[in-house]
Amino acid sequence: MIDKKNILIGVTGGIAAYKVVEVASRLKKSGANVRVMMTSAATEFVSPRTFQEITGNAVFVEMFGDAAHFHVAHIALADFADMVLIAPATANFLAKAAHGIADDLLTTTILAFDREILIAPSMNTKMFENPATQANLEILKSRGMKILEPATGNLACGISGKGRLPEPVDICAAIEKIFTGTVLSGKKILVTAGGTVEAIDPVRYIGNRSSGRMGFEIAKAALSAGAEVILISGKSELAPPKNLKFVKTESAIEMREAVLKDFDSVDAVIMSAAVADYRVKNPAAQKIKKSAETLTLELVKNPDILKELGNLKKSQVLVGFAAETQNILEYANKKLVEKNLDFIVANDVTAEGAGFNVSTNIASIIWRGGEVENFPKMSKAELAEKIIERVADLLNKDKKFFPMNDNQ
Ligand code: PMT
Repeated sequence: MIDKKNILIGVTGGIAAYKVVEVASRLKKSGANVRVMMTSAATEFVSPRTFQEITGNAVFVEMFGDAAHFHVAHIALADFADMVLIAPATANFLAKAAHGIADDLLTTTILAFDREILIAPSMNTKMFENPATQANLEILKSRGMKILEPATGNLACGISGKGRLPEPVDICAAIEKIFTGTVLSGKKILVTAGGTVEAIDPVRYIGNRSSGRMGFEIAKAALSAGAEVILISGKSELAPPKNLKFVKTESAIEMREAVLKDFDSVDAVIMSAAVADYRVKNPAAQKIKKSAETLTLELVKNPDILKELGNLKKSQVLVGFAAETQNILEYANKKLVEKNLDFIVANDVTAEGAGFNVSTNIASIIWRGGEVENFPKMSKAELAEKIIERVADLLNKDKKFFPMNDNQ
């Protein structure tokens, strides 16, 4: 979730600043684009050059720095970042941020920033517990900022108590959690799941082995990523997840209608439903009586919902599945092209632990242009997360540009 994210770290003047070097390093290794701003007090503990070497980016300290560098740095930094981490956050910083005081680059940038802010306070226990600090934390929380509780242990001042900066690995986990919940915020995702049911008569039908698990997990992953979700499901015994629009359908024709009704308003469609390619031409109005030795059903082709979406598609991201039993990549690639998809998830439905009605899957993602990502066996929930990460990347690909020359 952190890959390709723009993360701005604000370092204030506490001894724990040295730990933030590791945070920056971990984020960078996870694929994030990391920039650091420091108060002048912070530079007493760690040199800006350390962060510069770790992140590969210039470090900001001065409010009125080199104009050739970038003359409105606080605005550029605020525009650049998907989130801001303040670590360590001193009592002084908390007080200033709570009261809108902007007397250096770091506090001014915070004031100009309107997305997620994670604050990791670190200080002496008495300073942390002081009513003034606690009141300031309450103000910041009430404005939507996230506070990472300090850990308890030995402090630099020689006592043991609450006030330690959490370990870098825990800070990074908190950052990851923030991104998990926001990468699709403001986006609307339509997911199909389950198998269609094609009536033979009022009591019998042609169906398939889809349980709906794959699609339900995708819908849940999209919800966790902050999306508004429409889940259109064919036959499935699963309870619909909460907090989404759930549409129950039976036949491919019904599913098509439901999908088309919402298609114009969504940002992405992920079709994991197992849609029957054929339906009975004339389903009987009454239960068919057992008489003749053989029974012949005439089948006609169902509409290909995904292909139709591929033709209608404007800016929507379109993801299909390919349930194959042989020549997996070749057949899946053909569907990718024919249906005008952004990528397709191919699963060999004969492999053990993959495909229909199991809790795991083994899949490959094939991209337009032929690039293939092969995944080992994993839970459908994990695969769903991978699919949602990729959809989010496609939807967020117009990344903000940081108007600055790092070589200066
Ligand atoms: O539900 P589970 O038990 O968890 O099983 C998951 C799954 C095996 C159903 C899932 O992983 C999967 O492979 N779903 C796609 C099933 C399928 O119909 O594949 P297909 O290769 O026949 O179709 C290709 C794509 O076109 C699919 O995205 C399908 O939704 C879509 N399609 C197919 C036919 C049709 N008439 N209209 C369509 O839109």
